[in-house]
Amino acid sequence: MGQVVSRWWWGGDPDAASPVSGLTLRQVYHVQSTWRPVAADAGKYGMELFLRLFRADPETKTFFKAVRDLDEDKIRGSYQFKAHTINFMSAISLAVDNLGQPEVVVAMMEKLGQSHGNRKISTKYFHETRDVLVDMLKNDFKLTIEQMKAWEIFITFIYKHIFDKL
Ligand code: HEM
Repeated sequence: MGQVVSRWWWGGDPDAASPVSGLTLRQVYHVQSTWRPVAADAGKYGMELFLRLFRADPETKTFFKAVRDLDEDKIRGSYQFKAHTINFMSAISLAVDNLGQPEVVVAMMEKLGQSHGNRKISTKYFHETRDVLVDMLKNDFKLTIEQMKAWEIFITFIYKHIFDKL
């Protein structure tokens, strides 16, 4: 009886992994619910994420013409760069929001792979971006081990399809 209610509540077996994303319904819930507070202040956290990325690897800054010669204070004030950080956060939000139809996320990520491949952005920089994001979720947002596991699977999923077209 408990299992029937649980399946009804989740809309399926909460612990069965999607063959496309690798995420269970429970993990989709973790990713979506933990992303909400980050997305609610996308401008702030997007900017913070990129500033941390630039500190971790200054080479990443060179891809951004608008800010590559600016210091942190000036970068914070750049509307052009703010627009980029919000674009970045929106792309993550679109992927997160559409995990119920992961084939659509695959198509979105392939497009990102193409656009970033044209800019010669290698997997190395994506891995550095992942590390900064994971660190932010873990230390600033205090995600649990189970929630972090869901994020690990989510990032592996989206990166696979970005890298396919990079
Ligand atoms: C999960 C990781 C990433 C996501 C979701 C993402 C998302 C986006 C989006 C949505 C755009 C605008 C649309 C487009 O051109 O496709 C963009 C542009 C761009 N991205 Fe990324 N990006 C990621 C990683 C990176 C990394 C690692 C770098 C370099 C270190 C990078 C550099 C750029 C540059 C240079 C642009 C153009 C900026 C501009 O025209 O102002 N991105 N990115």
